[in-house]
Amino acid sequence: MGETSFQKGTKPIKLIAAACNNMGIGRNGCLPWNLPKEYKYFIDKITSVTQPGKKNLIVLGRFSFESFDERYLPLPNCIIALLSRKESTLPPHASHICRDEEDVLKLASTPPLCNEVETIWILGGAEYYKTMMQHPWCDEIYLTRVQADFECDTFFPEVNQEIYKLMENFPGVPSEVQEENGLSYVFQVYKRAENIKRQ
Ligand SMILES: NC(=O)c1ccc[n+]([C@@H]2O[C@H](COP(=O)([O-])OP(=O)(O)OC[C@H]3O[C@@H](n4cnc5c(N)ncnc54)[C@H](OP(=O)(O)O)[C@@H]3O)[C@@H](O)[C@H]2O)c1
Repeated sequence: MGETSFQKGTKPIKLIAAACNNMGIGRNGCLPWNLPKEYKYFIDKITSVTQPGKKNLIVLGRFSFESFDERYLPLPNCIIALLSRKESTLPPHASHICRDEEDVLKLASTPPLCNEVETIWILGGAEYYKTMMQHPWCDEIYLTRVQADFECDTFFPEVNQEIYKLMENFPGVPSEVQEENGLSYVFQVYKRAENIKRQ
C-alpha cells in the first residue's frame, strides 16, 4: 500500500489468476492444471497478507467459487463474497453475496466492513476480471504464467499495457521460474502505471 494513494473510503482492487500460453484460465468449470504449490503460494503469501487487524475481501464469480478447491477453505485472514445475480443462499465459507461490482465496492468501502477490509482481491472469473481491470481503483494484477499449452474455454482478458506495467522483482514475489508436476511457471505482477512510485 505504500506505493499507492487512494482517496479516503476507497480500497485497492487486485486481481489474481493463473493463465497458460494462450491466456486460458479454465476448462469445463475447472482449472486445466494441478499445481497445489501455486495455489498455496497465492493463499499463504499473497491474498492473506494485510496490516495487523485487517482482512482482505475475496470476491469470486459463482462458477469460480464452485470450482475453488475446498481443501483450502476457509481462506486465512479473508472475508469471502460470492458474486451472483441470482443466488440467494450463502454457500459455506462465504459471508456475503454481491449482485454486481457496485455492490462489492459498497460492501468494502462502507461500514461495517470498511474499517476491516484492506484490499479487494478478485479471484475470477473472466467477465469479472475484465470489468474490474478497467476500474480506477484496480492497482495490481498478479498473473502466474504457466508455460504450457492447455485447451481452455475460459480466458484471462488482455491487460492494457498503457495502463498497467509489468514489474520486475516485485517485493514478496519470487522472480525465478517455478517447477511443479512437470510444469514451469513464473509469477508476474502488473501495476497501474500512475501508482508506480517515481524514484
Ligand atoms: N486460472 C485461474 O486463475 C482461475 C481463476 C478463477 C476461475 N478459473 C476458472 O474459470 C472458470 C470459471 O470462470 P467463469 O468466467 O466461467 O465464471 P465466473 O465468473 O466464475 O462465474 C460466472 C457467474 O458469476 C456471476 N457473475 C460473474 N460476473 C458477474 C457480475 N459482474 N455481476 C454479477 N454476477 C456476476 C454470475 O452468477 P449467476 O449465474 O449466479 O448470476 C455468473 O453466471 C472455471 O473453469 C474456473 O476453474 C480459473
